[in-house]
Amino acid sequence: MKSEAMNQFVADVMSGGHSRRDLFKRAAALGLSATAVTALIQRAAAQDASPAASDLTGSLEIFSWWTSPGEAPALEALFTDFLAANPAVEVVNAAVAGGGGGPAQAVLQTRLQGDNPPDSWQSHPGRELIDQYVDAGFCEPITELFASEGLNEAVPQGLIDQVSKDGAQYLVPVGVHRGNGLWYNKSVVEGAGITIGDSMTQEEFMAALQTLQAADVVGLAVGSADGFVPAQTFENHMLGALGPDKYSALFNGEAAWDDQEVKDVMTSFGELLNFINSDNSALTWSDATAMTIEGRAAFNTMGDWAYGEFVAKDVVDQMGWISYPGSQGSFVLVVDGFTLPVGAPNPENAMAWLRTCGSVAAQGAFNPLKGSIPARTDVPTDGFSEYHQWSIASFAADALVPSAAHGLATSPAFKLAFYDAAIAFVTDKDVEIFASMLADAAAVEA
Ligand code: GAL
Repeated sequence: MKSEAMNQFVADVMSGGHSRRDLFKRAAALGLSATAVTALIQRAAAQDASPAASDLTGSLEIFSWWTSPGEAPALEALFTDFLAANPAVEVVNAAVAGGGGGPAQAVLQTRLQGDNPPDSWQSHPGRELIDQYVDAGFCEPITELFASEGLNEAVPQGLIDQVSKDGAQYLVPVGVHRGNGLWYNKSVVEGAGITIGDSMTQEEFMAALQTLQAADVVGLAVGSADGFVPAQTFENHMLGALGPDKYSALFNGEAAWDDQEVKDVMTSFGELLNFINSDNSALTWSDATAMTIEGRAAFNTMGDWAYGEFVAKDVVDQMGWISYPGSQGSFVLVVDGFTLPVGAPNPENAMAWLRTCGSVAAQGAFNPLKGSIPARTDVPTDGFSEYHQWSIASFAADALVPSAAHGLATSPAFKLAFYDAAIAFVTDKDVEIFASMLADAAAVEA
């Protein structure tokens, strides 16, 4: 239903026969942001002087887990850009709800194993892409598309390496999230007399959480109904405590999970968990971010898709951010992109979709809404937000470490064991069990 209305809307923009006022009104009803509409109108104007839109027809089924208040409009911005170039294609949004993609990835596996792929699906590069999809024979290489769209020059080599196997590429990266954010509600924090500078030590963070507890305010909002959240919170805490080299060594299997230094981090993580909301297991990541937005909690540690929620809810000015305490100088990579399936039902449409995802225009429209930064380095970002400028500077200067909670750093099996161990720890806070679950999972990998 929504797709039909969206298709009609795009056709009307492209026809040039409707007033801007009318278009903006209808866009609001469709949940499209002003940024996305402006990009579309500009696209229509440019197309007047350029070759006609494609004559592709049929449908395009896009599979993702982007359904939260911030994620959904960002995905719509990609659809808008695609439809501007391919107005006769019907876009089918096959998103499966569930932050971090746990539920979506399970549904996708069933579909892939039943030879029923969508036309493209969302994946993270690194181990998730290669182990789960490329080695399993589910992806076509898109090496020629990388060349034709200028991606080899525009995307940093380190990211290209993460989407490549044996010299071929398998995913078009659309945005780069920073996983180790600590977000806070400015007025709640100020109200408790806490001053936050450019960074915080873990001791300062604990002291702030104690102050908030004394004032009867939830310190850290956590939504562990999404399986990735306890794991991501722990990876940020561990990165802040041990630094990027030890972090990488642990996930690479070069350091032991049950050594005393790691157990000490687990102990301090357990102390941190004394300051989270008691209903955490009933809330999603987006619910927990909403707690902080609405002033029902002070802090939230989350990747910068949280910033997408601030944009969607128009609260950017009320929120502050720093790196998770101790992790300043590191950028936890959570990259999103799209694949070309073996046996895509509409392969030409799928290729057109990947061209959209890899384009300067689409990345320029998508990332301001999503909270990520463009994977292409040639996207003009002058108009991007202050947060985006901060993240772009961090990406250029900091140690880049792949996220394990989002499947970039480890095998899919280790990721799931990491989820299970961290979820159990939120309840039992048993350091010995946590350390041995992770050590056992690492031993299977060795
Ligand atoms: C990540 C994904 C992000 C965001 C987040 C929460 O895995 O890379 O784009 O969607 O999950 O759902």
